[in-house]
Amino acid sequence: MSFQHPPAAGMSSVAVASAQRAIIARNATLSVRRGKSAGIKVRNCASVISTAVSRAVIATAAIPILPAAEERDAMNQRETVTMNELPKGIHQITQVPNDALGNLWKSIIMDEQTKNRLLSQAVLNFTLRQKVARSVIPLHGVIMLTGLPGTGKTSLAKGLAHRIAEAFNSKAFKLVEVEPHSLASAAHGKTQRAVTDLFGQAISEAAQSGPIIVLLDEVETLAADRGKLSLEANPVDVHRATDAVLVQLDALAEKHPNILFVATSNFPKAVDEAFLSRCDLIIEVPLPDKDACLRILRDCLGGLSRVYPEMRRLLEAKGLDECAQACVGLDGRAIRKMVANALASDTATAMDPGSVTMAKIIEAAKTARKVRLKENRA
Ligand SMILES: Nc1ncnc2c1ncn2[C@@H]1O[C@H](COP(=O)(O)OP(=O)(O)OP(=O)(O)O)[C@@H](O)[C@H]1O
Ligand SMILES: [Mg+2]
Repeated sequence: MSFQHPPAAGMSSVAVASAQRAIIARNATLSVRRGKSAGIKVRNCASVISTAVSRAVIATAAIPILPAAEERDAMNQRETVTMNELPKGIHQITQVPNDALGNLWKSIIMDEQTKNRLLSQAVLNFTLRQKVARSVIPLHGVIMLTGLPGTGKTSLAKGLAHRIAEAFNSKAFKLVEVEPHSLASAAHGKTQRAVTDLFGQAISEAAQSGPIIVLLDEVETLAADRGKLSLEANPVDVHRATDAVLVQLDALAEKHPNILFVATSNFPKAVDEAFLSRCDLIIEVPLPDKDACLRILRDCLGGLSRVYPEMRRLLEAKGLDECAQACVGLDGRAIRKMVANALASDTATAMDPGSVTMAKIIEAAKTARKVRLKENRA
């Protein structure tokens, strides 16, 4: 299988900006010329320019911007393109493989079988769909991750993009992050239009320059369950936006076998049935069991002890098992935050985080669990 390679890497941000300006100008000129030669009067210059801008952004999106040294450290050398000019609804485009995304994948502790299942389905998407007709296997190229808040869905989805590129040993893949909330519009009919533009133009064009993994985070905002919408409480617009998502997914599935959508939701009951039916695989990401809680604690304390070496003693502490037990019922995010709460249990510890004791972490875990139980009862 061959994937197209992205434009040359290593250009400075100034070079990227000037490359983009050149492409915008060329695309706009071409559009105007095409319009003229076809006898079409170009009435809407703004729309010509906006299409040219989105094409230019997508064409140069794989080029990493080189930020200042300290910024680069903060980004953990993540080769990411974040630009105001990205097409509406696209939040970020990142070339993969990417170590920061690889670390996200590793940071999510869950049973390896489920992680492998997820990766295998994603890989199959890029091997099988290019070759097998949809009349044989009607894959849509959509994987859905459901689960309670803080269980690691978004981290897994982003990390998956890295693992796919790694599996194919290719630099042609990109992660395209969609920002569904920016599409919602109060104006009648606008959301449907924005959804159609995003899928039909921006995503479709991005897929022309190579294989892409598209993250649809919190997909219930895009594909709301039409059956549960009260037309009074929810505008017809939402209904139409869901229709548009379904129509566009079908069209993209036909046209672009090199797209994989990874959708996440912590509220799957609010997602439209027809969207769920289009998913090739739905994985429920569970709360960590006791063993996973122990591994998350170890991972978190291990990470902290790289900064505060005196914390290494906690990895061998007797109370670690009791602490893991106290964490059962918490999600991975809550466990990591609970450790931060322990570091802030008093001002002296906050001033010197390395001095935290296992007793303080156990206490923080018990408190976090009590709060969680109360929330669940409410
Ligand atoms: N199973 C896990 N193992 C280790 N860390 C975890 C796990 N689950 C969540 N975390 C940590 O919790 C944080 C939040 O994860 P993430 O944002 O991916 O969760 P999410 O499921 O997308 O949440 P939400 O539904 O609220 O969007 C991350 O820092 C992640 O490392
Ligand atoms: Mg999330």
